[in-house]
Amino acid sequence: LRVGLLFGGRSGEHEVSIRSAGAIAQALRHTDNTARYEVLPVYIQKNGIWQTGDAAARVLAAGIAPTNETEGSLWEFPSDCRAIDVWFPILHGPNGEDGTVQGLLSLMQLPHVGSGVLGSAAGMDKLAMKSIFAAAGLAQVQYRGVTRSQVCFNSQALPQVCSDIESALGYPCFVKPANLGSSVGISKVRSRAELTMALDHAASFDRRIIIEAAVPTPREIECAVLGNEEPQTSCVGEISFDSDFYDYATKYIPGRADLQIPAQLPESAILRVRALALQAFEALDLAGLARVDFFYCEATDEVLINEVNSLPGFTATSMYPLLWEASGLPFPQLVDRLVQLALE
Ligand code: ADP
Ligand code: DAL
Ligand code: MG
Repeated sequence: LRVGLLFGGRSGEHEVSIRSAGAIAQALRHTDNTARYEVLPVYIQKNGIWQTGDAAARVLAAGIAPTNETEGSLWEFPSDCRAIDVWFPILHGPNGEDGTVQGLLSLMQLPHVGSGVLGSAAGMDKLAMKSIFAAAGLAQVQYRGVTRSQVCFNSQALPQVCSDIESALGYPCFVKPANLGSSVGISKVRSRAELTMALDHAASFDRRIIIEAAVPTPREIECAVLGNEEPQTSCVGEISFDSDFYDYATKYIPGRADLQIPAQLPESAILRVRALALQAFEALDLAGLARVDFFYCEATDEVLINEVNSLPGFTATSMYPLLWEASGLPFPQLVDRLVQLALE
């Protein structure tokens, strides 16, 4: 079976995607797999141009983006992609995890790993996602949404927007681009001055911005989901770290975060996390895979849903494959299962 491994992408998580794809390529080629996979790397440069063949294979092997990008036409779908039987998009963030690529592949009637247009888009946009969680009755933090035009430094609306955020959420609060991941563009703010800077920073990544009340000293809990109509949950993991929050460096510099699998939580909290992960998966109409992230408040024994990732990281420090490994599904069999789910 020829698997088109689609990675890179026009996103602030481009580099993470290259690393995820490297790990998946290795797992697809593993001899333990029941099916024999031929991996065809397809690399989307930061400028949006698609590369196949040796050019894509070189990026995959190097694990980092090339310094010089090839120019080309966005309208040329590489002809060697026609040989691909099933696509494995491992793109993180906008223009890949958000339904755009899924729509392109669906239109062309090409099977692909993971969620379709609705689940991908709803899982990517934190404002849309949280309103769906609210409709499904899932407990979560208080939040507000604003648009870029309301908050850029020269906006006349900015003082009123800041006052509204302060009275609704207080400090500290988190300011985030609504559509991104890996903590890119996120700030934790404690004053009006920090808030205006953070809104401007988030607005440089996205037109839509979310501001959330900060959960005090949350424990960060994650659960992996796998399947289509009858999804299964993995065991539950916890991440701990010394930094102020789980930022980009803490996520990807080995040694900055500790992963405890399984998490040492009360059994009742574990059961709630696994049930909530399935509810979130179904509420957003996800398919194939997702990692669902929670905050556990020890003092109140409360589980709050934070977010889902419909194409979670697969790097060496990423939770999704580690959770399945600990649940009895090693990495090569996990990718095998994901490809088979795409063909169901
Ligand atoms: P991303 O999609 O980039 O991973 P998240 O919403 O998961 O964005 O936020 C990244 C990290 O920021 C979280 O893992 C957590 O450490 C911290 N964080 C985000 N929102 C909150 C919040 N409301 N309260 C406490 N910590 C938060
Ligand atoms: N968005 C990154 C890749 C993750 O959540 O794993
Ligand atoms: Mg997150």
